[in-house]
Order: sequence, then structure tokens, then C-alpha cells
Amino acid sequence: MTRIVTTFPLPEAVTALLSPLGNVAGPDGWRDELGDAEALLCLLTDRVDAALLEQAPRLRIVANAVVGYEHVDRAACAARGVVVTNTPDVLTEATADLTWALILATVRGLPRAERSLRAGEFHGWGFWDYLGGDLAGATLGIFGMGRIGRAVARRAGGFGMRVIYHGRSPLLPEDEAAREAESVSFDELVERADVLSLHAPLTPETRHVISRDVLRRMRPGSYLVNTARGELVDEAALVDVLRDGPLAGAGLDVYEREPAITPGLLDLPNVVLLPHIGSATRDTRTRMAMLAARNVHAVLRGEPPLTPIPPP
Ligand code: DGY
Repeated sequence: MTRIVTTFPLPEAVTALLSPLGNVAGPDGWRDELGDAEALLCLLTDRVDAALLEQAPRLRIVANAVVGYEHVDRAACAARGVVVTNTPDVLTEATADLTWALILATVRGLPRAERSLRAGEFHGWGFWDYLGGDLAGATLGIFGMGRIGRAVARRAGGFGMRVIYHGRSPLLPEDEAAREAESVSFDELVERADVLSLHAPLTPETRHVISRDVLRRMRPGSYLVNTARGELVDEAALVDVLRDGPLAGAGLDVYEREPAITPGLLDLPNVVLLPHIGSATRDTRTRMAMLAARNVHAVLRGEPPLTPIPPP
């Protein structure tokens, strides 16, 4: 019987879609089930490399239930004829919402204010207390103008922000975000943004794209927000510029060595740190699991996958 292995618990509706196709095994002891597996549903915390593929000689599809896929060795999969898929689109709006929550929390210092209240330090309204920065009239810089970058840009108008961006390909004129946003060089993006928000995938080219030198060139009093991948940023350098300037603050949902937090970050008062929750809404996570399962369904039935990732 066909064996489908999952590394994480699946909602009932997803299991119901997969069960007629075969036996669904995991998440407990999922590695022990790989010998017979024809499909693997996995997450960004599961490294899919040549060693894993070796244990799964019958594998036909790696259905990644997240959008990022840097944890999958695509070349090794391609060499064995294993299809790789991800879950674009279904998490775009939730991740864009979280990005804005993080921008607002960082620029207005919300966690710090809340911690102060809980510590009994709120003794009444104070004219010069708990001051943060302004968004209206400020410039939002977006690095990576894919689906999520564009969804973040669309929301910027509501906050009265000007949008500049740098991405691999220019926006189409009919794209809503393109009407308002200005395409600029990487250097201009870094030097003009009051809030720089990262939305590029992790690739060899984007690793540490926000280097010490780049951080030093950011505007005095600006903010960095990262809901993409931690490795885009040199976090040791980030700690230094958060201490000594030019940055006023940073909002991070992702980390360079997840789940480890770079020494120094936890001690800084001007950072907001979230535990990688960009797409963490009940409906979004269900849609992600369902899209991964629909990809498995298609491939096991000999149909093309819905959202394939091309080989490198
Ligand atoms: C992804 O899908 O790659 C995210 O980081 C999880 O929200």
C-alpha cells in the first residue's frame, strides 16, 4: 500500500484527502517510515538532503507545507526524480499582516510599554512618556517585491507611507503595488528607507545581504524589520548598530540561527522579537497543510503538482 509520511500533525480534512490514496504515517517516528514512503509532507525545520533521500528510495514528492524551501536539496531531489512543492499565495496576507504588526510594535515600542505597565510602572498619563516614531510621511523600503512584499506595499497607503522597493524583477504596471511604489537601486533603498522591511527568499546571493556595511549606511533613526529569513541579516552586526546607531530599532520574526537568538539581541530594549509566526493563523496554517496535501494527491495520481518548485 502507498505510504504517505508526514513530519507534523495534519488537520482532519487533510488526512481525509490523503487517506484514500494510501496509509498516512507520522508524525511520531516518521523517519522510521521513510523506507516505503512515496510522499513526504514536511516543514522548514526538516532538512531534506541526500542522506534523507537515501533512506526513502521510493519517494516521488517532497510536499513542503511552507513557502520557503532552502532546507530542501533541490538538486538531490531532481537527481532522483523527486518532485518538490511549496505553498505560495495561501500565506501571503497573514504574513503581510504580521509584518505590519511588527512595524507598528517596533516603531511605537509596544512591547516595552506593555512590559512597563505590567511591572507596575504606569502611574498615569505622562506627556513625554512612552514615545515612539511616526509612520505617516515616512518612507517604507521593501527588499524583495514578490507576493508578500507586494501585499505589504498595498497596506502602506493606509498608514500614509511612501513606498520604495528593490526586487529581482520590476512590477507590472497593472499591479496595484506598482502604481504607488518606486523602484530604486539597492543602495538607494538602504539609504532612503525609514523602515526597511525584508521579503526576499534566502539564496546564496541574499545571505547576509544586510551586512555590517549596509546597516551602517541606513538612515539615522531608521528601523529594520525582518519577517523573511534570518540569514538575510548579519545579526552580530545588527546588535552593534542597535547599540551604537544608526538604527533606532528592529523587529524580527526570524533569526540567523533559529531557534538560537544571537547574543545581545535579548538584552536590547529597542528590538521586538517574535517566534517566527508570520503565517501563524489557524486558517492560513490549515490552507498551507491542505495545499501540501493537494500536491501529494496530484503527484500520486500521476497529475502535475499544483505548486512545483523548479529544480535549481
Ligand atoms: C514559510 O512558509 O516559509 C514561512 O517562513 C512559514 O511561515
